[in-house]
Amino acid sequence: MNSSNNFSLTKSKIYVAGHRGLAGSAIVRRLQRDGCQSIITMTRGELDLRDQGAVDIFFRDVRPDYVFLAAAKVGGILANNIYPEISFRRISRYSKTPSELHGDQE
Ligand SMILES: NC(=O)c1ccc[n+]([C@@H]2O[C@H](COP(=O)([O-])OP(=O)(O)OC[C@H]3O[C@@H](n4cnc5c(N)ncnc54)[C@H](OP(=O)(O)O)[C@@H]3O)[C@@H](O)[C@H]2O)c1
Repeated sequence: MNSSNNFSLTKSKIYVAGHRGLAGSAIVRRLQRDGCQSIITMTRGELDLRDQGAVDIFFRDVRPDYVFLAAAKVGGILANNIYPEISFRRISRYSKTPSELHGDQE
C-alpha cells in the first residue's frame, strides 16, 4: 500500500469478506505481503452475509476498521440479468470513510 496514505492498514483490524474466492484470496495475500497484522476472515458457513442478524452481531462484536467486500454469488452476465437484486446491500450500513474513522487530517 502507498505509504503516503494518511491512514494505516497495517495496524488496523481488517475484515476480508469472501477470502476463499478469487478476488478475496488475492486481497488477503496482498494485505499479508504488506504486513497487515489483523486480518479477519469468515467462511460463508461461519457468517452468511445474507443473514442480517448475524452480520449485526459480527460487526458489533468484532468492530473491524476496514472491510474488503469480495463475497458474492458470482454467475456471470446471465446470472446478473436473471438475479439483479442479489447483493449484500446492508453491509454498507457499517461503511465509513477514512476521515470518518480517523478524523479529518487537513
Ligand atoms: N474474479 C475476478 O477477476 C474479479 C474481478 C473484479 C471483480 N470481481 C468481483 O469480486 C467479487 C467476488 O468474485 P470472485 O471471482 O472472487 O468470486 P468467487 O471466487 O466465487 O468467491 C466468492 C466468495 O464469496 C463468498 N460468499 C458467497 N456467498 C456468500 C454468503 N452468502 N456469505 C458469505 N460469503 C459468501 C464465498 O465464500 P465461501 O468460500 O465460504 O463459500 C467465496 O469466498 C464479485 O463481486 C466479482 O464481481 C471479481
